[in-house]
Amino acid sequence: MDKKKLAGEAAVELVEDGMIVGLGTGSTAYWAIQAIGRKVAAGLRIQGVPTSVQSETLALQLGIPLLPWAELGRIDLTIDGADELDPQLQLIKGGGGALLREKIVASLSQQLIIVADESKAVDRLGAFPLPVEIVPFAWQATRRQVRALGCEAALRGGETEPFVTDNGNYILDCKFGVIEHAHDLQVQLSAIPGVVETGLFLGMASAAYIGCSDGTVKRLD
Ligand code: A5P
Repeated sequence: MDKKKLAGEAAVELVEDGMIVGLGTGSTAYWAIQAIGRKVAAGLRIQGVPTSVQSETLALQLGIPLLPWAELGRIDLTIDGADELDPQLQLIKGGGGALLREKIVASLSQQLIIVADESKAVDRLGAFPLPVEIVPFAWQATRRQVRALGCEAALRGGETEPFVTDNGNYILDCKFGVIEHAHDLQVQLSAIPGVVETGLFLGMASAAYIGCSDGTVKRLD
């Protein structure tokens, strides 16, 4: 059994009629969106808020009604993946490049439910390089400022053909090693003008559904 599928589908049991539902990005959120699509086809009435062009395309293919951006306010429930989560449900996100929209949607959500396989659950954040979205203007200078905080920072995609986010920005994948003080790091990175947002999601997740190799799904609160 696919552990990501197990987790993604289990979380969809929280979706209720009439909800506004944030639709995450990535290969685990994919399964949640598929399951929501099936429920919508069976009569569930919800409005979705996609966190990326990729998830928007999938939702439209599945016939999930989407809330117009101009009407975006409170979201009842968002189901999204993560690259790492620790026991306090602090997260690293952005491996798929959607961290900015994911964080905006998460910040508007009453509940942020993380779906992941067991490989994503870690004792301490930092083995996965932290994605940091930056503006393309003078990106080299921004990278110097980010590196000065004590990391190796690689431009995603490389300098010849950098990866461009849905918002027209670049991403630095930053190897800090074990992140001891995540809140301080968030403050320091956010203080750099060229930084748009980081993949640190702190105090945002309400619960996580973890797909395990024994075929069970563990809920963490
Ligand atoms: C997208 O930018 C990310 O935040 C994803 O949520 C994260 O990379 C998890 O993706 P997978 O579920 O594909 O591992």
